[in-house]
Amino acid sequence: MDKQNRKAVIAGNWKMNKTATEGAALIDELIPAVAGAGCEVVICTPYTTLVTAVEKCKGTNIHVGAENVHFEKSGAFTGEISADMLVDLGVEYVITGHSERRQYFAETDETVNKRTLAGLNAGLKVIVCVGENLAQREQGVTEELVRLQTKIALQGVTAEQMANVIIAYEPVWAIGTGRTATAEQAQEVCAAIRKVVGELYGEAVAKATTIQYGGSMNDGNAAELLGKPDVDGGLIGGAALKADKFAAIVKAATEG
Ligand code: PGA
Repeated sequence: MDKQNRKAVIAGNWKMNKTATEGAALIDELIPAVAGAGCEVVICTPYTTLVTAVEKCKGTNIHVGAENVHFEKSGAFTGEISADMLVDLGVEYVITGHSERRQYFAETDETVNKRTLAGLNAGLKVIVCVGENLAQREQGVTEELVRLQTKIALQGVTAEQMANVIIAYEPVWAIGTGRTATAEQAQEVCAAIRKVVGELYGEAVAKATTIQYGGSMNDGNAAELLGKPDVDGGLIGGAALKADKFAAIVKAATEG
């Protein structure tokens, strides 16, 4: 089975939550809770928590990621953080294209592409987020939109670099709303994303690419979502802030 050959990745997206002190306490709870995981475990934290997170997660199975990255290498970009700065800290992952950044911080498909390339070229693994809003779903353009977002985000990414790319399908209407996509909806769009990856890079890359679902995934619905053939993991917001809930999702991924 293709799915068995792909890496299941459960990633927490802490968003703008937890001070470094509070984050340290959460990581202390997470370390034993996910120690037996049979999937890749990632926590993407605010920049201010990264040093603490990398330090605490050394020698554990938890990998640390950032929630954004600037696309220039250095220079006069007050307030921004480069990919080299993240790599130097020991950060391994970065999220690009999260819908909250598209919605509130003028992120476009083009800047998502630039950030994705910057992350990959610096040696980071990149979780690229795509997904439709409610109006787009109701208009019936979900698949076209997600195809377009995926294609533009991956422009200039080589087939070799695809080994370091994860795509997260996150329907905007399901994020933080408690309104999860059905497992069938998640499967349908994740399969469409795999198809476009296949068109761009060929079957072998498509079969090897990890595709996550995100949007109100929790301990109650994770097993069903992760049981679908093209859903290889999850990007978790709210439920990543509670060690027991996050660990339950990791367990579901381990068993699924
Ligand atoms: P949620 O967030 O799990 O709180 O819906 C997911 C995300 O935004 O990545």
